[in-house]
Amino acid sequence: MNKQPYVAPTIRRVSQATANPQRLGRTPVMEAIDGVPVAGLLGEHGGPLFVFSEAALRAKIRDARRAFAAVYPKTTFAWSYKTNYLNAICRVFHQEGSLAEVVSGFEYEKARANGVPGYRIIFNGPHKTAGELRRAVEEGAMIQVDNRDEVLALAKLADELDREIRLGIRVHVDTGTHAVWSKFGFCAEDGEALRMIEWMTENTRLRVRGVHCHVGTFMLDAGAYATAADAVVRLALAAAEAGCGTVEYLNLGGGFASRARLHGQYLPPEQATPGFDDYARELCGTIKRLWPEGRDLPELLLETGRALVDEAGYLLTKVVAVKQRMLAGGCPALAAYGKGGSNGTLAAYGKGGPVSGAGGNRRNAVVLDAGIQILYTTAWYQPSVYPAAAPAAGMQPTTVYGCLCMNIDVIREEAALPEMNVGDAVVIHPVGAYNITQSMQFISYRPAVVMIDPAGRVHLIRRREVLEDVCGPEQVPEYLAETGEIAEEARVSVT
Ligand SMILES: Cc1ncc(COP(=O)(O)O)c(C=O)c1O
Repeated sequence: MNKQPYVAPTIRRVSQATANPQRLGRTPVMEAIDGVPVAGLLGEHGGPLFVFSEAALRAKIRDARRAFAAVYPKTTFAWSYKTNYLNAICRVFHQEGSLAEVVSGFEYEKARANGVPGYRIIFNGPHKTAGELRRAVEEGAMIQVDNRDEVLALAKLADELDREIRLGIRVHVDTGTHAVWSKFGFCAEDGEALRMIEWMTENTRLRVRGVHCHVGTFMLDAGAYATAADAVVRLALAAAEAGCGTVEYLNLGGGFASRARLHGQYLPPEQATPGFDDYARELCGTIKRLWPEGRDLPELLLETGRALVDEAGYLLTKVVAVKQRMLAGGCPALAAYGKGGSNGTLAAYGKGGPVSGAGGNRRNAVVLDAGIQILYTTAWYQPSVYPAAAPAAGMQPTTVYGCLCMNIDVIREEAALPEMNVGDAVVIHPVGAYNITQSMQFISYRPAVVMIDPAGRVHLIRRREVLEDVCGPEQVPEYLAETGEIAEEARVSVT
């Protein structure tokens, strides 16, 4: 008898929070944000419109600081610019005492223009030019060195400047919760990072005074930070042991999850998302447990982004078309229109306007005046979609399409919405993290952004784009300057 070869079993961790059943909850109406009516905001500023709540921003950073200060007073937060670098947003965080964490020369300049001195900037990222490194060194920024080539560039700079450069080293750690972010930094666990620290100490004027690890983003398992902190502390202690000097700060990056809901996530965010207290307990508990008694605890830096800004951001948008979406298994819409082609379609619409009400293998659908080009995070999240006006009765599964002429432009496959009409306002939430910075100028202009201050006053913090914002940097070669003749020849008669 042929025996099957033995195949060793593999155990794969399945996070309960990302198991898969669809859930269709009851969606409440959102008529106002921080007491300011949605209808009024759209009336005054037009739509689509991003709206930020300053009160929510401040409440979040204060909650995060409270949670960490309670267990580890030497904690400092740095605002992760790429999460949302609108100047008004950055300034709220800087007013609250946050440093700036930047990952490019452009972000560095932005932070400086926001009044942040170099020594309050953490300079991260895998690509920093020689000029950017020089400026950052001269201004005392905390550079987190990412790779061997950057080490060499910094070593050369230290010689040119004839001085020591103090820096942090970025490392990656396998937390066992998701794929390792090994694109960044040196491996903390196989000795690579320690060898690099030793090499720098022996051969260069670079002095490692910080260890940095950003394990990943949207970490639903707070325990990942215990694993990361463990690796980072052990590396810092091993470096000291090897005579490479004292590590003065540990930078555990960002990655705390916001109260958004991932695709395929079963539990609602209220149950799935750890609080700042949970992250603080795991992370700081590990540092305190491993750090040798009698030695000063290191400073703790955090570069939290999305967890601080996501829920403060809303997108106000309007329904521009109401549709019946065909699901798998045929096209009942055509049957309803009768056999005849275009005439049949018109006849079915009859005097009373388009047919409505989902049934059979159709589903209600709406097209909004905003699309995924400004809602990058819909690739990850299922944002909540709220009607901005009552009645909220009669919720039905509804597909929410964006306005792009692209089939992939789906904001929510299935949201619970009442029967919607053209012109109805809809609020999408949370959208505060990464959407502004990653939104593309594609097909339509990027919308205006307002911030509601704690007194309920509304401030424009980015105006809506106009043609000049898009085409301003363009240049037309002289030989293409004249198009009138070509247009004349190419004219098609439609009469
Ligand atoms: C180095 C670094 N720090 C901080 C962050 C912010 O992460 P998050 O928004 O998940 O908190 C990121 C994001 O990828 C990052 O790469």
